[in-house]
Amino acid sequence: MRFFHLTALAYLLVERGHAVQVNPLPAPREIEWGTSGPRYLDWHVRFNGPGDHTIQAAWRRAWNTITRLRWTPAVTEAPIPTFAPFPSDNEKRDALHSRGTVRNVNVKVDDTDTELQHGVDESYTLQISEDSDKIEITAKTTWGALHAFTTLQQIVIAHHGQLLVEQPVKITDSPLYSVRGVMVDTARNFISVRKIFEQIDGMALSKLNMLHWHLSDTQSWPLEVRSYPQMTKDAYSHRETLSPHDVRQVIEYGRARGVRVVPEISMPSHSASGWKQVDPDIVACEDSWWSNDVWEKHTSVEPNPGQLDIANDKTYHVAETVYRDVSRLFTDHWFHIGGDELRTNCYKTSKHVRAWLQEDSSRTFDSLLQHWVDKIVPRLKKVNKNHRLIMWEDILLSQVMHADELPKDVIMQAWNGGLSHIKNLTSRGHDVIVSSADFMYLDCGYGGWVGNDPRYNEMENPDPSKPTFNYLGPGGSWCAPYKTWQRIYDYDFTDGLTDDEKKRVLGAVAPLWSEQVDDVVISYKMWPRAAALAELVWSGNVDKNGQKRTTLMTQRILNFREYLVANGIPAAPLQPKYCLQHPHHCDLFYNQTAVV
Ligand SMILES: *[C@@H]1O[C@H](CO)[C@@H](O)[C@H](O)[C@H]1NC(C)=O
Ligand SMILES: *[C@@H]1O[C@H](CO)[C@@H](O)[C@H](O)[C@H]1NC(C)=O
Repeated sequence: MRFFHLTALAYLLVERGHAVQVNPLPAPREIEWGTSGPRYLDWHVRFNGPGDHTIQAAWRRAWNTITRLRWTPAVTEAPIPTFAPFPSDNEKRDALHSRGTVRNVNVKVDDTDTELQHGVDESYTLQISEDSDKIEITAKTTWGALHAFTTLQQIVIAHHGQLLVEQPVKITDSPLYSVRGVMVDTARNFISVRKIFEQIDGMALSKLNMLHWHLSDTQSWPLEVRSYPQMTKDAYSHRETLSPHDVRQVIEYGRARGVRVVPEISMPSHSASGWKQVDPDIVACEDSWWSNDVWEKHTSVEPNPGQLDIANDKTYHVAETVYRDVSRLFTDHWFHIGGDELRTNCYKTSKHVRAWLQEDSSRTFDSLLQHWVDKIVPRLKKVNKNHRLIMWEDILLSQVMHADELPKDVIMQAWNGGLSHIKNLTSRGHDVIVSSADFMYLDCGYGGWVGNDPRYNEMENPDPSKPTFNYLGPGGSWCAPYKTWQRIYDYDFTDGLTDDEKKRVLGAVAPLWSEQVDDVVISYKMWPRAAALAELVWSGNVDKNGQKRTTLMTQRILNFREYLVANGIPAAPLQPKYCLQHPHHCDLFYNQTAVV
């Protein structure tokens, strides 16, 4: 093991000479290491902090992890002057002892009552001084203190049966963006509560703070809704359902780890299962042919079809009731009501829509969608006056059908068109969550999944200059290619925005749609790539000089992947282990500023 360190050390000294000690992920905004050498930590550090239950429980978890895992990162990015004192040099070990063992953690939190909601202060400081026996943590709120603990977890390492932090250290940290999340989809395939917990574990470690929970879709309806118990007849099975107890457990598990849980119920698009059990008449085109192989019959972007019937008045009552019941289950002040990928052909099958269009010859499909917005938004606002709605950008930007007017407090989630759509929406005065498919969709690049697909019946690789639906890029699937962690990390999603527009970007959420995801694969498709997003939205992708720090992030994310696995989250390997143990030996470019 020492050999690796020394090889890496020599290499780094010669090649770069920078000094970053253990590399927590996300990199803190400011971290200053001392030079005096490592400090030992007592195995029974004393916690002096608020009696607040959330803080105490989080501290116990962090300290248990430290003492149980006895984690040593494979390689630290640093010339480590401190490796000389140990393992066997008694004299220097005495010197280490004389530096004194850290025996206390002092935690000061200004306000332990602030709820975990959008915009809460998550800043913290963490200091271990040369001449003190304390770890000193300060935070404005509980949620900042929790982040301090996950940082501490990653900088305390085990070495020859001792716990130590490599150097005295001073960290001043806070996030760039207040929305930092991933999306799980429990409808295309079911995801169990246990596996959702696992995602939250990874989120907490990487300081992601929002779980966007796509609860329903056309394919299945797993969620128990109080007013309409029949909806879960469209769950995949009795076992693949989510009871109010399950939902509360997820919310509580998330809250305990600083993760908000924001529900999404898809409306009016992606809606068949569940709704049709309440009343088949409020669902359009459920029995139609979805695909565009016969264009006139095409009703849906993917099987199976179904959209809430906007022209049927009964729809609004049911939608409002579902919204009311579901928002009572959740504690967050945000609620996502879908709105993506509507198809006009679906509505052409509806007698209600046909009659509505005929009533007035100026009516179009765009005015039909405007009708939805004008009716549903005020109704839902009335249920929860201080709550904010989120919708997918399509509601304003879809070429197929879109509304022209949307209340400005509705948050737009941008997923198409990259930077141009982010600019379009922020310039129109909407707050935006970035989920650009070309950069952040974690489900892309695993091939197309629909059956009876002659495009795969190829004996030679298709001509790459003539991309077909399944070969939009190497790798297949509509949003191919696979988004590597570097593609995610390098994405400057506010490029070209004015300062005012930049302020409207609340952050980013990486979706993992689950057509090809269930309990078996969710964690390795999610991790460690979600951690690349986590750092991007916590402290950005550039160093103090504005230079992209992707090459340094490589070691961080490789180490972090090992740490996730050690914490029971089966994250995918990114490179041969050789690369982890030999920093930068697997780089494409020798020039360390090649990524600009
Ligand atoms: C936003 O996009 C829509 C739809 O493409 C377009 O009509 C509109 O002009 C754009 N607005 C801005 C401000 O770019
Ligand atoms: C390294 O790459 C950067 C960015 O392409 C370039 O500006 C710089 O000149 C390169 N340095 C060397 C030594 O080639």
